[in-house]
Amino acid sequence: MYAITGATGNTGSAVALRLLAHGEKVRVIGRDAGRLGTFVQKGAEACVADVSDAAALTRAFAGAMAVYAMIPPNPASPDVSGYQERVSDTLVAAVAKAGVEYAVVLSSVGADKPDKTGPVVGLHKLEEKLSSIAGLNALYVRAGYFMQNTLAQIGVIQNFGILGGPLRADLPVAMIAARDIGEWAAEELLRLTFRDKQARELLGHRDLTYRELASIIGKAIGRPNLTYSQFPPQLVKPALLQAGMSPNMADLILEMSEALNSGYMAPLESRTPQNTTPTSFETFVAEEFAPRFTGKAATV
Ligand SMILES: NC(=O)c1ccc[n+]([C@@H]2O[C@H](COP(=O)([O-])OP(=O)(O)OC[C@H]3O[C@@H](n4cnc5c(N)ncnc54)[C@H](OP(=O)(O)O)[C@@H]3O)[C@@H](O)[C@H]2O)c1
Repeated sequence: MYAITGATGNTGSAVALRLLAHGEKVRVIGRDAGRLGTFVQKGAEACVADVSDAAALTRAFAGAMAVYAMIPPNPASPDVSGYQERVSDTLVAAVAKAGVEYAVVLSSVGADKPDKTGPVVGLHKLEEKLSSIAGLNALYVRAGYFMQNTLAQIGVIQNFGILGGPLRADLPVAMIAARDIGEWAAEELLRLTFRDKQARELLGHRDLTYRELASIIGKAIGRPNLTYSQFPPQLVKPALLQAGMSPNMADLILEMSEALNSGYMAPLESRTPQNTTPTSFETFVAEEFAPRFTGKAATV
């Protein structure tokens, strides 16, 4: 049986669906039984557990041959690093107490660095803590920048007529569709060939700059002249707060942006067929971005 944290989310749902499609026994974990219902209809067992509750998570992992483990985002937390510490402690305790032998763990490009990468520091610490569990086979999936992050640009386009954000316009970013991470993780869970502790980068379909993203999005939404502007931190922070982030999370995002802009936070691996995934940004825009943009535009 496989236990999947974050099962209703971007990556976890793809893990669960791929394993269910292979006829595997799957336990989906989330905070709300109703949201897990679609997986139950496909044969999964639902388990309601908060990832900060060690006893509940240990029960959720009990009997699992392998788990898909993640720290769910909590961008409204006043202390994001403290939240990440608590959840990584809980995950580690649950993996150890339940005697889990295999874990595919969602991490990030940049998790090799111990500091100055914003929220990714919490993933570095998660990897470190899990690595202290003797006998655990753990695969840390150091994923690139989620294409889903660009959905925040819908409001920016509607308010300012451009794309804008803290990253340099000409910075090549390894852009990945979250679904590709989940499907890749599911294949690793099916094979279970990883041993001891390993980190693997997953760099998505290709590297793209925000300038290129603006051009791709512009063509798809009928605004062919759409451009991107880098905004200074003092402009970005209020926008992040308005989007519902805590001041602490906004500061961490700005720290991560600085780390990306300077090249401190960057993939360690060169691009290869093994760390490249199938979904292009054009496909993501056609399937997710443009419909949401149009849907939102219709309500404005
Ligand atoms: N964004 C990026 O560019 C990027 C890049 C690399 C790595 N990452 C990492 O990717 C992870 C997020 O992955 P994702 O996008 O797949 O997640 P997600 O879709 O945002 O969320 C996953 C699920 O976690 C569940 N959840 C939230 N809080 C919970 C709690 N306290 N207890 C139990 N379940 C909880 C939610 O389901 P319910 O509401 O049903 O409980 C949610 O659907 C983060 O660790 C992030 O650092 C992100």
